[in-house]
Amino acid sequence: MQAICNKIMSFIQEINRRRTFGIVSHPDAGKTTLTEKLLLFGGAIQEAGAVKSNKIKKGATSDFMEIERQRGISVATSVLAFEYNGIKINILDTPGHKDFAEDTFRTLTAVDSVIVVIDVAKGVEEQTEKLVKVCRMRNIPIIVFINKMDREGKDAFDLLDEIEQKLGLKVTPLSFPIGMGYDFKGIYNIWENNINLFSGDSRKNIEDTIEISDLASTELNTLIGDDAAQTLRDEIELVEGVYPEFDKEKYLNGDLQPVFFGSALNNFGVRELLDCFVEIAPKPRPKQSEERLVKPEEEKFTGFVFKIHANMDPNHRDRLAFIKIVSGEFKRNTPYLHVRHNKRLKFSSPNAFFAEKKQIVDISFPGDIVGLHDTGNFKIGDTLTEGEIINYRGIPSFSPEHFRYINNADPLKSKQLYKGIDQLMDEGVAQLFTLELNGRKVIGTVGALQYEVIQYRLEHEYGAKCTYENLNVHKACWIESEDEKNEEFKEFKRVKQRFLAKDKQNQLVFFADSYFSLQMTEQKYPSIKFHLTSEFN
Ligand code: G4P
Repeated sequence: MQAICNKIMSFIQEINRRRTFGIVSHPDAGKTTLTEKLLLFGGAIQEAGAVKSNKIKKGATSDFMEIERQRGISVATSVLAFEYNGIKINILDTPGHKDFAEDTFRTLTAVDSVIVVIDVAKGVEEQTEKLVKVCRMRNIPIIVFINKMDREGKDAFDLLDEIEQKLGLKVTPLSFPIGMGYDFKGIYNIWENNINLFSGDSRKNIEDTIEISDLASTELNTLIGDDAAQTLRDEIELVEGVYPEFDKEKYLNGDLQPVFFGSALNNFGVRELLDCFVEIAPKPRPKQSEERLVKPEEEKFTGFVFKIHANMDPNHRDRLAFIKIVSGEFKRNTPYLHVRHNKRLKFSSPNAFFAEKKQIVDISFPGDIVGLHDTGNFKIGDTLTEGEIINYRGIPSFSPEHFRYINNADPLKSKQLYKGIDQLMDEGVAQLFTLELNGRKVIGTVGALQYEVIQYRLEHEYGAKCTYENLNVHKACWIESEDEKNEEFKEFKRVKQRFLAKDKQNQLVFFADSYFSLQMTEQKYPSIKFHLTSEFN
């Protein structure tokens, strides 16, 4: 009896000490630098420069070579795990490039919270807006880190206003900068009530933290000078008057977002961020499935695939499916139910991730990510359980932005071509549609870059060749009709036959060739609903 109690206790402790999160930002705001500094604090890496940026470098020799390079790196950085003060932290990597936005959206289904990095000079940028919108839709708790305080940038209050307005957040600063750019003196840490001075000729050193019990004390004047001390006092008074007090519950519900200031490059303000993060960020959260809400503490294992990495080594058809564990313990060599295929699968070498290394593990807990070697069984969104029929939801497809016909350029290799397309679609590289009228295949993508990726990978991994033909489509809309037998729906199908296709799940999709034609069609067929995502009920 005692042994069972101890086992349950240690299972609960393992859940409680996990924090699984993502860092999101517009490219160049400092996501990679911040990730690296967090890993340095965790002792997971020993030197700066160890974490490779997975962004597409500007002016790259050739886009697809660059993508291959990036893909190689992103296998290593998909999950970066480390321990800090007894807390197991899992950072899930999210690509910043807009053409890979869908990868990032999918990864956001596997995080329990996020840190949003904003460049103090650039403020809120386009990608940040899009990503935060998705986080807000899912009520994901958000901490904001305003980076590059060692550079001239926007006024702190203006920036906080901009964040509230453009991102629709309700912020409360938990640290506040003392000056910026050349005059950047450090940070007043509202959360810990101390001052952290930025100094050193190289402006690269971290000065000791100085406890300051009272902002009114003359000690502050001695530390940062009379003018800066007075400005700080005035600013903190304003902060206290204008912004709500931090409330953990509100933060966890996605109703309040704490803000930190710092300079990731200079390792400044990062420890404060991390210390607060481990204290307030959520442990693994319950997840909604189509059938019911699943809690991490449940005894039985469940998890879902949010990412697939394939064929990095052309000599082996290796695919790694990344599973987020939602509940129970995931154990090596245990048969689990692959719900979509209704078959049991066993995994002899599940990988866990520690910093940039993979290692085989016997047991993993809710919040953890395991990488499973896959021979083509998985696609994104698949659920694994101990036997219960559960389907995790929340990985919808969004309407692509670009559409092209794909043609087979080597008739002798059509089998390879279709296998390649099939597997690349399972990985979530793009979406495949089949036209109702003539069965022609159409590839839809978020960015134009993906067409090069697909062509290159089909040739190098599957030995198949393809060409593309442009197709004028504005948006793909998933169709919903209350009654598919009614006259209106029948007429819609007849009149619009040329514009109808099926997606890979066999759902009916309407290709609208312009914004105008979509509006006209919606008006003409009021009983039919046109959705821009594949998940609408
Ligand atoms: P990303 O992953 O969000 O795309 O950004 P990344 O960390 O790669 O940072 C983008 C650039 O901003 C890098 O410079 C990085 O050194 C710089 N940076 C990051 N944090 C700070 C900061 O706190 N202060 C200042 N001044 N710069 C910062 P780069 O020249 O593009 O790259 P690199 O040659 O330094 O690697």
